Amino acid sequence: MSNMNLTLKIWRQNGPDDKGKMVEYKVSDISEHMSFLEMMDVLNEQLIAKGEDPVAFDHDCREGICGMCSMFINGEAHGPDRAITTCQLHMRTFNDGDTIYIEPWRAKAFPVIKDLMVDRSAFDRIQHAGGYISVNTSGNTQDANALPIAKAAADEAMDAATCIGCGACVATCKNSSAMLFVGAKVSQYALLPQGQVEAAERVKNMVEQMDLEGFGNCTNTGACEVECPKGISLENIARMNRELFKSMVAG
Ligand code: SF4
Ligand code: FES
Repeated sequence: MSNMNLTLKIWRQNGPDDKGKMVEYKVSDISEHMSFLEMMDVLNEQLIAKGEDPVAFDHDCREGICGMCSMFINGEAHGPDRAITTCQLHMRTFNDGDTIYIEPWRAKAFPVIKDLMVDRSAFDRIQHAGGYISVNTSGNTQDANALPIAKAAADEAMDAATCIGCGACVATCKNSSAMLFVGAKVSQYALLPQGQVEAAERVKNMVEQMDLEGFGNCTNTGACEVECPKGISLENIARMNRELFKSMVAG
């Protein structure tokens, strides 16, 4: 395929209180081998050369690990492909002459900082409320192999732990629910013996913080699971609800 010429319609917003608007840009000579973020870099180089303000967007690892590259592309979190982040999306997914709509995550709990960058510190505060285990690091730590863990439980815990906190689940959900994210974080520990000591407090505190941050409720549409780049399963939400019920029964 020869290189592509594209029209980009990008959300520009100067800060949280700015109303914001879509602005049209043209980019030319985009290689199909470029990643989506490299295409954005080309646009920003053009804007800087013209003395214009480059488009602010979050990115860090550019290999699907850090969860920073939050973008809605043509109405889908992380773009049209499945099980990848925006930084793993390639321009070969698009065609010469395409118009591409690029917007930030939209959720009350994720206010826009500038353009495509949103504030996802609500996720950090949920993690701080309970997304950890207390471990004795005194030098007398137990040998890890002294605590046998069933393979199935280890596998499920590892699957839950692959959540990168990108927020696509929230951005995709019509209720802006964070339950897939919190379900993954609760499950990661609930499935392992190390997580049992603080299990009841953890789930109560994390769910309470989630509600305080203004995320909506889950109405089981399943959209979050479809758009999650890490394939986090809805089963984690069910497990979180069971853990919460258990903690309430235990008082
Ligand atoms: S559950 Fe999936 S979509 Fe949600 S934050 Fe984690 S990785 Fe991102
Ligand atoms: S830049 Fe890190 S996941 Fe995309």
